[in-house]
Amino acid sequence: MVTLKDVARQAGVSVATASRALGGYGYVSPETRSKVLRAARLLDYHPNALARSMVKKRTHTLGVVVSDNANPFFAAVVRGIEDVVHRHGYAVILCNADEDPEKEEMYLRILREKRVDGLLLAPSGEAGRFLRAWAREGLPLVLIDRKIEGIAADAVIVDNRSGAKEAVAHLIGLGHRRIGTICGPQQVYTGFERLQGYLEALREARIPVEKDLIREGNFKQDSGYRLAREFLEMDDPPTALFVANNLMTIGALLALREAGVRIPQDMAVVGFDDMEWASILTPPLTAVAQPAYALGANAAQLLIQRLLRGPSPQPQEIVLKTRLVVRESCGASLHLRSRQTSQPRRARAL
Ligand code: RIB
Repeated sequence: MVTLKDVARQAGVSVATASRALGGYGYVSPETRSKVLRAARLLDYHPNALARSMVKKRTHTLGVVVSDNANPFFAAVVRGIEDVVHRHGYAVILCNADEDPEKEEMYLRILREKRVDGLLLAPSGEAGRFLRAWAREGLPLVLIDRKIEGIAADAVIVDNRSGAKEAVAHLIGLGHRRIGTICGPQQVYTGFERLQGYLEALREARIPVEKDLIREGNFKQDSGYRLAREFLEMDDPPTALFVANNLMTIGALLALREAGVRIPQDMAVVGFDDMEWASILTPPLTAVAQPAYALGANAAQLLIQRLLRGPSPQPQEIVLKTRLVVRESCGASLHLRSRQTSQPRRARAL
């Protein structure tokens, strides 16, 4: 294997000079640099990244841990991250925690052993002891999508509470009073915040909260399916459902279709997370859209800033907005049509 020594000999310089020229640090005259680069090309020299990292104490590698890589939401987040860090010369190691805090901790240990320069984390639950210790030691860390108590780190999140509240208020505006929710896990930030949004919307409309109408899923499809079926088995099922993420919404839609429930006539549905497939469903899904790509890109930008400039005195928090995309599954179009046809009749009666 061609070594740095061979390159130095070929270029007629010392090993230290060749190393500076190839590593891009320290002073080397432009002529010497091009001599060394020419020699490296000629000998087809590939630097040993491990050895270089040991000298520079930087691996130019970032850890990215998402809570479910099968979820298209996180695919968009990761794309946003990768587009930014790639421009700055970093590579990512992507890990999938599968909404499992133990698996997450295992990956955190591995990433630490691999000496990643920083970490982008969408946590699966509360902060474990390992993460707390690593953060205390000064790990450059940015939390994405979900915050965790006890960790003072930069974070990029969306306004989950307002997004959920707007969705439920929309259903209330369409005349629904019995609104069920399939909420996310309550130990997860987004699960908790979206349920708070649901509760706030009911409280503002003075609709009493019914425990039976709140069912907690795990952010995965199977729980959406199971809990929608439970709603349908109630003596007095809800007339509308607010489902707190995309995968649980797919599960709920499958259960409703299997049971022959018409959407939105028998049950209106609003989901959280607007996915590409939402508009081609029958009926098209009304959903709360979150800027997943921007979430990843902003988080990556924060981490790069931290790596370049060092820690900021106060952790920064970026809160992005959600947007309610009204389509047909909530019944808004039916509602509009019935108002349009009923108005002339009312006028005639008057
Ligand atoms: O599906 C995962 C969900 O959890 C998404 O809605 C995302 O916001 C995350 O918190």
